Amino acid sequence: MTGTEPKTVPFPLRVPGEPFPPPRYEEYRRREGLVPTQLPNGNRVWLVTRHTEVRAVLTSKKISANPDREGFPHISDTMGVPRQEQIPGWFVGLDSPEHDRFRKALIPEFTVRRVRAMRPAIERTVDELIDTMLAAGNSADLVADFALPVPSLVISTLLGIPPVDRDFFESRTRTLVSIRTSTEQQRDTAAKELLRYINRLVGIKAQWPGDDLITRLLATGSISVQEMTGVLMLLLIAGHETTANNIALGVVTLLLNPQWVGDQRAVEETLRFHSVADLVSLRVAVEDVEIGGHLIRAGEGVIPLAAAANHDESAFACPHAFDPARTERHHVAFGYGVHQCLGQNLVRTEMEIVYRRLFERIPTLELAVPVEELPLKYDGVLYGLHELPVRW
Ligand code: HEM
Repeated sequence: MTGTEPKTVPFPLRVPGEPFPPPRYEEYRRREGLVPTQLPNGNRVWLVTRHTEVRAVLTSKKISANPDREGFPHISDTMGVPRQEQIPGWFVGLDSPEHDRFRKALIPEFTVRRVRAMRPAIERTVDELIDTMLAAGNSADLVADFALPVPSLVISTLLGIPPVDRDFFESRTRTLVSIRTSTEQQRDTAAKELLRYINRLVGIKAQWPGDDLITRLLATGSISVQEMTGVLMLLLIAGHETTANNIALGVVTLLLNPQWVGDQRAVEETLRFHSVADLVSLRVAVEDVEIGGHLIRAGEGVIPLAAAANHDESAFACPHAFDPARTERHHVAFGYGVHQCLGQNLVRTEMEIVYRRLFERIPTLELAVPVEELPLKYDGVLYGLHELPVRW
């Protein structure tokens, strides 16, 4: 345990113009103990940056993911949906044993086998979006025209949204996550419309069962109709901007490192290298707990930083190099422990199809602006790109 009071570091952690992960993470990792920061609401919380300690936090039974708990580090309200704790079924904010019921019901929907069955639909979606871009000319914003619609359309397939409603669904989910181009009121309206739509869809499936995720989940009898709306909103939100950001940043990285185009190992490395969900796994200690020799007191907030852990040189050789041939596979880009990303098999398949089809079909793809001018996301919970101007 450290005797002296550690120095508090500034929040937000990302500074416009700086590379990501922030070089400061290296200094934080080298410090003894954990690193305190102060959130905009004045609360002091602990940042965790070393790989072993991030995993220790995410597996500790004395540390909770429940945003209702006193001291939980609420870092932003930009999700565009009502407060998480007000939505029954928003299980990422539940601890065991309440969390287990949802996880158990959902795991069969995301197995490698189930995702394999979705492959043709994902390939069709990706190809249709590429067709549309090619038909529109020889340039595009790869975020708005491709990276955001891909996960949205894939999730609408997963949820069994009828094809006639896909445009509605895609446009509302896009508004929800486009914090630069939409107003707060537009995001609020989009969230309400989606909630209403999903509510109605669950009602329809409850009455007229089909062959889809909603019907199967309802048939387990372990999730109520009311909770289903929260579960589906979570799937939608958790899988949308995360995937889009990884697609966009991954494409840039492949354009800068063309020797890896066509190599499937690039998928896993983009996940580690970019760690878009750096600030996603927020936690609060519910009992006094020691992490890395440092005491976290009950009621103190904890933020394990995925990007810092994934660039920890004690866990990954040459961590700042984009090297799909590396053999270490224990990155925490999908979190760790009981809340580890449920959609990871789906994401890997989407990424593999996206990178392959995009570069096969548009071999002359290139950036339309210098890489230093790409608008990176320094605000919000996720790291990514606001826009990605490309041409061919
Ligand atoms: C949880 C990252 C895509 C569904 C998580 C967590 C992370 C993460 C870090 C852990 C949150 C925590 O510890 O509190 C990512 C990344 C993605 C991605 C980087 C894309 C590149 C998806 C997709 C889906 C999805 C496509 C589903 C369609 C979920 C769900 C949880 C989750 C439901 C909560 C699991 C639980 O609490 O048991 N994700 N995710 N994610 N993710 Fe993902």
